[in-house]
Amino acid sequence: MSATDDRLRVVVLISGGGTNLQALLDRADSPASPFRVCGVVSNRPGVRGLERAERHGVPSRVLDHVDFEDRATFDTALAELVDSFDPGLVVLAGFMRILTAGFVEHFAGRMVNIHPSLLPEFQGLHTHRRALEAGVGEHGASVHFVTAELDGGPVIAQVRVPVLANDDEDVLAARVLAEEHRLLPQVVCWFAEQRLELRDDRVWFDGKPLDGPMRCCD
Ligand code: GRF
Repeated sequence: MSATDDRLRVVVLISGGGTNLQALLDRADSPASPFRVCGVVSNRPGVRGLERAERHGVPSRVLDHVDFEDRATFDTALAELVDSFDPGLVVLAGFMRILTAGFVEHFAGRMVNIHPSLLPEFQGLHTHRRALEAGVGEHGASVHFVTAELDGGPVIAQVRVPVLANDDEDVLAARVLAEEHRLLPQVVCWFAEQRLELRDDRVWFDGKPLDGPMRCCD
């Protein structure tokens, strides 16, 4: 990295496989990328996402929540650790922890999450199973600014996939995940290009408030 590197510094929080992290690392590798991943933090030791970071030469840390007596103490330590990377954006990519209001407030307007459903449908867990049970014809994923409401912050962009007759949970999850890998880097690029903003609890894009989520990625 040169001293004049002015790409947006992104910290990615993970809990597992890190395929969305991989999509960000791959996009950041392209010479035209407006962002770079400057740190990865996992709340679980030994996960595949940590190997992905290491292979890319990105510093990673484990902060295991089981070592902390409560959520607030963990979140205080997590905020300090994330701050130590001096990020312009924090990305929750499969980070399976509920965050305290204090943590969310600290990173307000500069933290996004990827969620595997067409929010506000299917907030929380087991989204693919619930989409199949509900019999929806379309499913997908959303990237939203993080607010204190779980999976409830203003949605920036979504990607849609069809639900097909013989889908089971795994098949549908894989179809959505492949599209997440396009959606998330696109949103991070927009943020890095200063086209995206959280203002008055709304998403602004290119200086105008959005009426609804943008559709990705054609
Ligand atoms: C993704 O489906 C993401 O939307 C959800 O958890 C999954 C993480 O996958 N929050 P990975 O760790 O990025 O492979």
